[in-house]
Amino acid sequence: MLALALSLPAAAQPGYDFARAQAFLTTSCKACHFGKGAVGGFDVMKFVAGEPMLAQQGNWARAALRVKNGEMPPKGAPAPSLDAKEAFTHWVDTSLRVEACATGITPGRAMVRRLNRTEYTATVRDLLNIPVNAGRNLPADGAGGEGFDNAAETLFLSPIHAEKYLEAAKEALDYGNRDPRSRSVMIPVEPGGDVSELEAVYKVLEVFVPRAFRRPVRPGEVASYVKLYHAARAKKMNWEESVLYAMAGVMVSPKFLFHAEAPNESAEPRLAGQYEMASRLSFFLWGSMPDAELMRLAREGKLQDAETLRRQVVRMLKAEKSREFAENFTEQWLGTRELGRDIKPDEKLFPEYYEPEVMSGIRHEPFLFLHEILMGNLPLTDLLDSDWTVVATKLARYYNFGTIEGLRQQPIKVKIPPGKHRGGLLGMAAIHAVSSYPHRTSPVLRGKWILENLLGTPAPAPPPDVPELKDNHAGEAPKTLRERLELHRANPVCASCHSRIDPMGFGLENYDVVGRWREQDAGKPIDARGVLPDGTEFDGVDGLKKVLATRKDEVIRNLSSKMLAYALGRGLSLSDRCAVDRIMEALRRDGYQAHTLIQEIVLSVPFRYQRGSDARIPVGGSATPREAEPR
Ligand code: HEC
Ligand code: HEC
Repeated sequence: MLALALSLPAAAQPGYDFARAQAFLTTSCKACHFGKGAVGGFDVMKFVAGEPMLAQQGNWARAALRVKNGEMPPKGAPAPSLDAKEAFTHWVDTSLRVEACATGITPGRAMVRRLNRTEYTATVRDLLNIPVNAGRNLPADGAGGEGFDNAAETLFLSPIHAEKYLEAAKEALDYGNRDPRSRSVMIPVEPGGDVSELEAVYKVLEVFVPRAFRRPVRPGEVASYVKLYHAARAKKMNWEESVLYAMAGVMVSPKFLFHAEAPNESAEPRLAGQYEMASRLSFFLWGSMPDAELMRLAREGKLQDAETLRRQVVRMLKAEKSREFAENFTEQWLGTRELGRDIKPDEKLFPEYYEPEVMSGIRHEPFLFLHEILMGNLPLTDLLDSDWTVVATKLARYYNFGTIEGLRQQPIKVKIPPGKHRGGLLGMAAIHAVSSYPHRTSPVLRGKWILENLLGTPAPAPPPDVPELKDNHAGEAPKTLRERLELHRANPVCASCHSRIDPMGFGLENYDVVGRWREQDAGKPIDARGVLPDGTEFDGVDGLKKVLATRKDEVIRNLSSKMLAYALGRGLSLSDRCAVDRIMEALRRDGYQAHTLIQEIVLSVPFRYQRGSDARIPVGGSATPREAEPR
């Protein structure tokens, strides 16, 4: 019973109810948001007692968000107490989720999407055992719902793709055929002795096709590719050329290029099939096809067993291939993939950054850091502050670490010497660079980066007609960036957003564009103090980290949501957010250990189930729906 009670979202403040929420709205909002003249058409008196809140989910959520952000009621209007505001937003959030979760977690539909370019490359590498980037000439992928390039919304197949895939497959097969280590994986049987040419081609394809399709072959499947072999032979190609021709046919099949789960046509949700689980796991944690062990466990029917899944997660995270997951996920989550692409610090102003080993060290630090956390099962809160990081010799020098034993040309985990202002994401030069303009820092961009990427509460987009920050005019007393920004915030319209965005960014002003520590800007000492909309004051990055530590639950929740979206390869629904609630409870219980996050994602309803035409799964998950037929 305890387990069931724990699996519900944390209760709202005791005694808080609809009547109190309505009293709050009447006192604080009705003056501007009522009836015909309601500002923005947003009428707070349209909420009705006893009606399901989900029916007006969007309006409730918007009201809570604006209050939470300190934007409503606006400056000048009588302000409710902080307590009253918090009680209100907390009640709205929990009530919405309790309602959504009470009706059960709905899993997503069976997945159908193309492998993205990164997955394609890794899969070809593992399938043929070749070390080349086979996907380099494929068109780039867009990003979907939560900003990841594995989102089903964006991954369809265009005619351009079809042609490029054939070229890529031929090139990769050709390369593999010339390298004996790859060739023995690709073509394990040759004609000769008692083995006829036809027997040999069957043997080759009987191994290759199920590996390529990531499931056992169906009747007639191998024979259909043997037909391609015959067609090639008829055109006077030799045995080897003809086998490679058939293999290229396999590699342009949608069965290879797509994650194509069998559709669930029943009304009920069901567990994903064994081979589907093998692929869900391996594309999540390795960005590539399942290995022999996952395929064996699928064959033995063990990939819906909770203990097996937990153990596999640990095994997979410890394998070298999980680095790719850390890289793909982290770089897209934090935006650091743009370093060297869309985001380039000014080379004239910051030549030190362009030393090749410094530049790559800076770019790699965030994902190598997450990789250490994942492999070592460290607390995820290390992302906010830590006494260690991952650097090589040159980056350690750039960070002024002094002498550290054992540093090498390759990055390793090191303990940060005291007083260096590093540790956690906020101490990393990559983060400072992606949230700056090429030639100067911007507390606005940095504040926006923290709100969006760490706290998961993106700032509203700026209005279109905002004047640019003017550079200092000749003859004027030089103004620091802070002074110039504070002028803007004197205007209440600007302040409604910027009092929220800028302060956290000011906390990072001691880092320049390329992340070096500095004490001055425009000849004046750096002032890195900030005041948050709720009145909290802090000073510098250390103060900012303390503020974020009090909000670690929000940060880890945001990370969990992002990672669940990445694991599912799609944007999240409200129902998926109930799954995040359960993941968060498990995380809080054990101090935010990294393995728990990944294990809970893998064990979650959305990860393990496929939606039926309209059924839901009780949150308790006691029912054991029918599993998909092994295909
Ligand atoms: C003094 C007048 C005033 C009061 C009081 C006020 N608002 Fe507003 N509200 C505005 C104005 C002006 C806007 C439009 C500008 C903006 O979006 O910031 C707005 C916009 C909004 C929006 C966005 C509407 C949309 O189109 O998306 C929401 C939601 C909102 N307010 C909620 C609230 C809530 C909840 C309260 C009470 C806690 C409240 N407001 C109190 C003036 C007010
Ligand atoms: C609805 C929220 C919102 C409002 C209102 C708003 N801004 Fe902004 N502002 C933003 C966001 C978000 C950014 C970051 C834009 C980006 O990503 O480039 C921004 C960026 C800026 C910047 C660029 C900062 C830099 O470092 O160069 C300036 C200057 C600015 N705003 C001034 C203003 C002024 C002046 C007003 C009032 C007239 C105003 N803003 C009103 C959201 C807002």
